[in-house]
Amino acid sequence: MARLINGKEVALSVIETVKDRAKALQDDAGVTVGLAVVIVGDDLASHAYVGAKSRVAKDCGFTSVQHTLPAETTQKELALLVQRLNADPAVHGILVQLPLPKHLDSEAIVQSIRPEKDVDGLNVVNAGKVATGDLKTGLVSCTPAGVMALVGCIHGRDLAGLNAVVIGRSNLFGKPMAHSHTKNLPAICRTADILVAAVGRPAMVKADWVKPDATVIDVGINRIAAAEDGEGKTRLVGDVDFDAVEKIAGAITPVPGGVGPMTIAMLMANAVRAAAFSAGVAPPSFNNN
Ligand code: GUN
Repeated sequence: MARLINGKEVALSVIETVKDRAKALQDDAGVTVGLAVVIVGDDLASHAYVGAKSRVAKDCGFTSVQHTLPAETTQKELALLVQRLNADPAVHGILVQLPLPKHLDSEAIVQSIRPEKDVDGLNVVNAGKVATGDLKTGLVSCTPAGVMALVGCIHGRDLAGLNAVVIGRSNLFGKPMAHSHTKNLPAICRTADILVAAVGRPAMVKADWVKPDATVIDVGINRIAAAEDGEGKTRLVGDVDFDAVEKIAGAITPVPGGVGPMTIAMLMANAVRAAAFSAGVAPPSFNNN
């Protein structure tokens, strides 16, 4: 049976470090970390997610301001808000929750966030730094950073000699993590010592896709009907067929309680790093490099 990788526990230890660094910034430089979270529209899952981010930010001692805009917000209105937050010295990090309503051009909005305040790590400047191996001077995309921390719990810092396969190629996760595009997916997955699934398809990764003893990281968060829990009930599942795969894998993340808490912890880590950069203080490092 696979070892369960407890993302909640690892995330809590990251958050403890964030709290210490935020307090040091306050005591030594008089800087309170400021995070602005922007949400447009009424998507319930997004509101729940943003609520969790705002709560953790406050718990870290940050000033966290949530900007809740109606679904009919125009591109211009949203762009103006980002411009205002870009110019506000009390705001060190800006997060625009995705997906945005369909009539809005999310890429233009994301790219308009100043790279120094881009705590999601989605601006081309930050993505480019990751792509060229610079994990020190920018802000690394939160979910890949969280996944690397979880992989480090099992394999340590040095992954040399291990085969890694990432399924999925979104801007939020698959591209910054790696890049994979293949027809013979199950066979490719079976070569992986570290298998990361980020597709958004419930239970897609089956037991016979997994090499015995592999480390399996499930980035998927899919809400499915759960009639067995009662009429109209739903539950969260990942991209991995957990019950079958845990019998084969060496280590596996659960959904929920695996990657999800790490994404939020790494967002807080990026916010405290952004504030340190802006105060001219050496930024804390939260990765293995
Ligand atoms: N929507 C789902 N995950 C994320 C994330 O990590 N950042 C943003 N901005 N939106 C998301």
